[in-house]
Formats: sequence, C-alpha cells, structure tokens
Amino acid sequence: MKEIQINLTVRVVSLDELTADDRELVLKAKDMTANSYSPYSHFKVGAALRLADGSIYCGSNQENASFPVGLCAERTAFCFAQANAPEQAPVAIAIAAFTGGAFLGKPVSPCGACRQALLEAETRYGRPIRVLLYGEDGIYIVDSVRDLLPLTFDGSEME
Ligand code: THU
Repeated sequence: MKEIQINLTVRVVSLDELTADDRELVLKAKDMTANSYSPYSHFKVGAALRLADGSIYCGSNQENASFPVGLCAERTAFCFAQANAPEQAPVAIAIAAFTGGAFLGKPVSPCGACRQALLEAETRYGRPIRVLLYGEDGIYIVDSVRDLLPLTFDGSEME
C-alpha cells in the first residue's frame, strides 16, 4: 500500500495583522453581508475579490424560492469580475458571514462549487488566488484555492 499525504497550511491572523490591502478586502466582504438576499437561510454572506490591477469586485449571496437557483457570495463576486474585467487575474478573495445578529466566530468556508469555480480561474490565469476567511475569533489565510480542493478535476483529463 502507498499513501499520499496532502498538506494544508492555514495561517490564523487578526485584522490588525493583515496588510492594508487584505484588511480592506476583508472589511468589504463584511460590509457586503448587508446586501445579501437570503430570506430562506438568513445566512448573509459577503465576498470581495481583488484583481491583479488592484480593483475589487464584491458580491453577496442571492437566494431564490427555487433553492438551487440561488448563488453564493463568492460566485456573484467572481462572475461580476469575470464579466467586467476578464483580462485581470483574480489574486485574492475575502469572505464573511453574518447570521443571528453577529458575524460567525469560526471562519466561513466556501462551498465545493465555489472552490471549483475559483480553481478554474487559477488554472486559466496561472496565478494562485489567496483566500481570506473571516471569523470574529480569527481570520484564516490559505495561499491558493487549489489547497482547499485537493485531488482536483480541472479538465486536463479531457485533453
Ligand atoms: N453561502 C455562500 O454564499 N457562501 C458560502 O461560502 C457558504 C454558503 C450561502 C448560500 C446560501 O444562500 C446560504 O449561504 C446558506 O447556505
């Protein structure tokens, strides 16, 4: 038998320990929770995506009475950016979630579908996207989406 070890490094920092750029991104993600349309889950998620030129595109989760039609905050921000600035590689994304009158203590983590969507952008632009997951008790930083989605399906198998 053979084993494959897959390692993930997560740095845990406070808002004060972030660079000014990263702090701005996290604060925008927090602000964006206010724009969430989530009458079904009452789980308000905000996302802020920074592109290579420094511009920031924001999103929030948008739900629908037909539940599968809803879209996560990460993908609203991502699609907004891709639709308007496809020439710019995404370089970092911050995510925050607010529910029951407070931000989550433990960092919110992107769903599998969002990881898959962001992963394709990493492959497409050949640049990692840093992921900043906001929690009141600490902010998790992961250096690439690929780290969050090991054993990926990236389409290369179809070539
Ligand atoms: N949601 C996001 O927008 N991002 C995440 O990372 C996790 C989940 C949304 C989808 C849905 O509107 C609500 O949160 C509950 O799942």
